[in-house]
Amino acid sequence: MSGHLQDHFERRIDYMRISVTDRCNLRCIYCMPSEGVRFIEHREILRYEEILRIVRIATRLGISKVRITGGEPLVRKDIVRLIESLAEMTEIEDISLTTNGVLLKAYAGDLSRAGLQRVNVSLDSLSPERYEIITRGRHLSDVWDGIEEAENAGLKPVKINIVPIKGFNDDEILDFAMLTLRRPVDVRFIEFMPIGAKEMWDERKYISTGEIKERIRTLGDLVPDRSERQAGPAENYRLPGAVGVIGFISPLTNHFCSSCNRLRLTADGKMRPCLFSESEIDLKNPIRNGCDDTEIERLLSLAVSVKPKEHRLGERIPRRFQRTMSKIGG
Ligand code: GTP
Ligand code: 5AD
Ligand code: SF4
Repeated sequence: MSGHLQDHFERRIDYMRISVTDRCNLRCIYCMPSEGVRFIEHREILRYEEILRIVRIATRLGISKVRITGGEPLVRKDIVRLIESLAEMTEIEDISLTTNGVLLKAYAGDLSRAGLQRVNVSLDSLSPERYEIITRGRHLSDVWDGIEEAENAGLKPVKINIVPIKGFNDDEILDFAMLTLRRPVDVRFIEFMPIGAKEMWDERKYISTGEIKERIRTLGDLVPDRSERQAGPAENYRLPGAVGVIGFISPLTNHFCSSCNRLRLTADGKMRPCLFSESEIDLKNPIRNGCDDTEIERLLSLAVSVKPKEHRLGERIPRRFQRTMSKIGG
């Protein structure tokens, strides 16, 4: 069978986010609860061969973009080998990875040679001192070295994701925006979502895209930028004369659900049709019990068919998600 995945709301699903591990070498305070998280046991984690089988079958159903996420994907052993195998699949047009950047300096060259096209780096502070506090002793300079190495290796554009949180890093919004004046990076502001560490979420800490834009406009006009295909949820702009792009990802104020094109595969082998829906379709057990490709195709189609029309975050903030962001991969 070949064809494409389309859900009940006329959305064409062609993008799979693949979380390869729930482990991370950082403990960002908004992402992981302070008491720590219980990690998924090794035997529950999909092996690369299992991931590759799922992706191979998914490409027959029209998946042509994949993004590797975590936890932190670069802490998984032999990650370069996975990228290499994915890059051999000619149906895949776009292979990207989301990382905290700490290990990027060491990996950028190998990742690029293996066929990775670009990276998105999560970075929530430009202050070396604050970065050390958030990450319990890591050095911001490692992340900058990583970004530089990624650019040199041709992993472009490098996108930097920041989640502004009131009283935590919102005093750095303008500094992040100003980065685009001199560097060819995409700086993307993501609205803080009620997912992750439960003690961290507080409506009063949330900053809307409208407010972020208002602050940035004190630097100059935000000119809509259409240089990049508008495939993802980000809305892109440029400050006058800037070399880089400023993007806004607004899951709360601008439902982009109607154009959502993605499925998520968790590290323990569940298809998650929506970031905010707890319904998951298990692929790991069927695969380990020897099911054939047709069954996997059926389960992928099933995942798409239960993809909700939209999230309801604006109406009802859930008390707690079963999975933290680090177990979904963003
Ligand atoms: P590009 O293809 O480079 O635009 O990447 P992306 O934005 O799809 O991926 P990235 O991992 O950089 O995503 C950044 C963040 O945007 C995620 O970690 C989430 O916080 C948010 N995001 C991405 N996709 C979705 C989605 O489908 N729903 C919601 N609510 N948020 C999303
Ligand atoms: N709200 C918004 N974005 C979040 N991320 C993690 N937790 C949250 C949250 N509560 C983002 C990180 C990273 C991506 C993987 O998910 O900043 O860019
Ligand atoms: Fe898609 Fe769910 Fe994200 Fe909405 S919240 S855009 S439906 S993944």
